[in-house]
Amino acid sequence: MRIRLSTPINRLTTLTCASILAVTTSTAVLAQQAILEGERFHPEVSEKGMVATSHFLASKVARDVLAQGGNAVDAAVTAGFALAVTQPRSGNIGGGGFMLVSDEKSGEVVAIDYREKAPSAAFETMFQNDEGEAVSELSRYTHNASGVPGTVAGLAMALEKYGTLSLADALAPAIRLAEDGFALPQRFVDGIRDTRDRLEPWPGSRKKFFKEDGSLYQVGDIFKQPDLAATLTRIAEQGSREFYEGKTAELITAQMEKNGGLMTMEDLANYEPAIREPSHGTYRGHDVYAMSPPSSGGVHIVQMLNILEEYDIAEMGFNSANTIHVMAEAMKRAYADRSEYLGDTDFVEVPLEGLTSKEYAKELRQQISMDKATPSSEIAPGNPLPYESNETTHFSIADGNGMAVSNTYTINFSYGSGIVVEGAGFLLNNEMDDFSAKPGVPNAYGLLGGEANKVEPNKRMLSSMTPTIVKKDGKNFLVTGSPGGSRIITTTLQVLMNVIDHDMNIQTAVSVPRIHHQWLPDEIRIEQGISPDTIELLESLGHTVSRQEAMGAAQSLMIEDSIFTGGADPRRSTSSAMGL
Ligand code: DON
Repeated sequence: MRIRLSTPINRLTTLTCASILAVTTSTAVLAQQAILEGERFHPEVSEKGMVATSHFLASKVARDVLAQGGNAVDAAVTAGFALAVTQPRSGNIGGGGFMLVSDEKSGEVVAIDYREKAPSAAFETMFQNDEGEAVSELSRYTHNASGVPGTVAGLAMALEKYGTLSLADALAPAIRLAEDGFALPQRFVDGIRDTRDRLEPWPGSRKKFFKEDGSLYQVGDIFKQPDLAATLTRIAEQGSREFYEGKTAELITAQMEKNGGLMTMEDLANYEPAIREPSHGTYRGHDVYAMSPPSSGGVHIVQMLNILEEYDIAEMGFNSANTIHVMAEAMKRAYADRSEYLGDTDFVEVPLEGLTSKEYAKELRQQISMDKATPSSEIAPGNPLPYESNETTHFSIADGNGMAVSNTYTINFSYGSGIVVEGAGFLLNNEMDDFSAKPGVPNAYGLLGGEANKVEPNKRMLSSMTPTIVKKDGKNFLVTGSPGGSRIITTTLQVLMNVIDHDMNIQTAVSVPRIHHQWLPDEIRIEQGISPDTIELLESLGHTVSRQEAMGAAQSLMIEDSIFTGGADPRRSTSSAMGL
């Protein structure tokens, strides 16, 4: 087994631990733990499978599914529904997302696109006022902020095609958690308190998130969700179409009609997820698979890796000024292209081959100077054509039979639009804000978009979600992804580089400080932990550096020599990796 970071092993400690753990832990796991001894961050280690999610209750039910013989897709779908109950700020049935499934046995990696769609009555200027100005309130906090949800159909499709459990079985833990309730952690209580103003105006949200007298729940209170339990039970009993054609669909459309929303019964009935080919690239001998449009994530992670591959990043060093400089330069160019070319490929032509080609990356790399930052004002979207021949949650799951799942789904903001469907107990997304309300006007994450991402009926809005699976020698090697709006793509990029370039174990790879550049604004955003002299060197190259809050929550796992290691991102207090 390859040793990540050549740290001396403290044999005495190892032996002591080994004798204590030997009763329950296999020799292979003990060997891996010994290898990791002396490192600062320790992943969860297991021989039979691994789950990493943003909530310990979801990790637990997913691990139970694996322990009972279910495969990674069974566990992922179970986790997806459980997160809708335990982490309503982002876990959802009222939103959408993307799932990558890699089956080593068939060699296939497929992408399930269950992104929300614009209602059929949507139109290009729907988020503009009479003067033609974009009005963000409309695309974020109204009933028209919501795209037609895809989560229930997407998870059901994944289960039907690649799982072994029935939908009712995959829903059972979520129903139990919604009915019986669970003790609230600090993060949940803080989240509701901080979003109170957005939730309180809506009767459904008041009923779900506040006590009967309107007061806040406290840490340790048992939180029950009877309306959501009833909705999940209907889906378990009648199948996923219940959400789109049954009582749940009626509750959604009643809510829309009462509040001037455009979404109709027909929009819901017409919703279908799509199977897509993932974006694919290579990086230092690894195969990288990530989400294709309507997400921009896969295209741009491959594009940035192609630019960076020719630099000796390992030699340049982790988060050195030189490394951050070339990463920022690659990021700027990718995000500039995103603003111009990316959109739903069912509606617009996207030059995918050009954007992900090594030749185009070479052209972009030639524009990068080691001595000077290129101001974003001098970077325009490139010309890849000639080569044409803000809360989300991510989880990574792998089973012992060669199947791995990388899933990111969202209702966009924390608590989406803030609107809970009355009687149905779940939040509506505000994903319509991911369209360009008007060319040149940034969305909530400061991302610009143009024609390719304008609002059109039944179109999927552009996303940055980047569920990613890296294979090595045909085997699943790294499963990762993250929330974080525009920062998703760069967070995922860094987990991948930390493992491949900097030889970090997965817990270290997700824990260490991150940086981000998205072309506009022209600044390198950094987390705590980048040294002042590094910042000074970057500034001397012409970069603007801005320290802001932590970015992403990259629940990730790795598989090497049949040993699974899981890294829960410490940026979320409820994150958890659990092995079998
Ligand atoms: O699809 C997207 O790119 C965004 N709606 C994701 C939002 C997000 O990650 C917010 N989370 N922190």
